[in-house]
Amino acid sequence: MGVFEQQLLLLDGEFSLKIWPRNKNEHTPQGIDWDNIPEHIAIIMDGNGRWAQKKGMPRGIGHRAGLEALKAVVRCCDEIGVKYLTVYAFSTENWKRPQSEIGILMSLLKEYLKRELMELVANHVQIRVSGEIEQLPKDVYEDVLQACQKTKNNDGLVFNLALNYGGRSEIVKAVREIAQEVRNGEISVQEINEKIIEDHLYTASIPDPELLIRTSGEMRLSNFLLWQVAYSEIVVAEEYWPDFKEKSLLNAIEIYQNRERRFGGIMKVEE
Ligand code: IPE
Ligand code: IPE
Ligand code: MG
Repeated sequence: MGVFEQQLLLLDGEFSLKIWPRNKNEHTPQGIDWDNIPEHIAIIMDGNGRWAQKKGMPRGIGHRAGLEALKAVVRCCDEIGVKYLTVYAFSTENWKRPQSEIGILMSLLKEYLKRELMELVANHVQIRVSGEIEQLPKDVYEDVLQACQKTKNNDGLVFNLALNYGGRSEIVKAVREIAQEVRNGEISVQEINEKIIEDHLYTASIPDPELLIRTSGEMRLSNFLLWQVAYSEIVVAEEYWPDFKEKSLLNAIEIYQNRERRFGGIMKVEE
């Protein structure tokens, strides 16, 4: 039995105590409204490579630093009461990168799951994935599946990893599944509606993100959650992802809270 399996066995016990301090006051943002924390935050963690290159270091160092930023953000989201956190960890287009960089990203993911699982479980975090994970290297695929399996009954923060994820391929997957149901006579063409499409996305049962954050100043979606972000508030942070700290997260939430969400309607007016 490997170290990872032994660690997982240890996790089988019941954890009733959370080890992270669930104390919002530890975070000291100025005007944040604690009663209006987004239920679901999605993040495009961008800029690892540039962060490293700016310091004259290889891109892989940036990815490692990015992992540290991720740990802090997951913890902060849980502490302040976010229910769902979806992070873009690897896109369907990231296979275009040099094999050496893909290898680094995959081994960092494995390392994250191995090292952090205990802490995530102790904090009742439920790990989910969105993406074609069957196409990941077999060992990575197995570790990801095991992490999901091990945490599936946890009732804390839902930490959704977008891995080998592409918004377009997600929609293609949904269309294929629905077409098959029509062909099988399970539903009629007329019955296809938004709810049925949503039920066939990886994010089925997860509400749409109210807030989408992208770091490193880039203003594009890069094929992330194309369906789900239809009415999300987008906040672009200037920091490269490894520099994105808890304070940056709270700042993004504050910006979100000051937006007026109209969903196609108009401002509330006195009649
Ligand atoms: C984001 O940082 C991490 C992944 C895409 C996995 P990048 O690797 O895209 O860094 P930049 O954008 O090239 O600086
Ligand atoms: C988006 O970042 C994908 C992830 C953060 C995993 P990219 O760096 O791959 O996106 P582009 O190429 O700048 O659009
Ligand atoms: Mg990038």
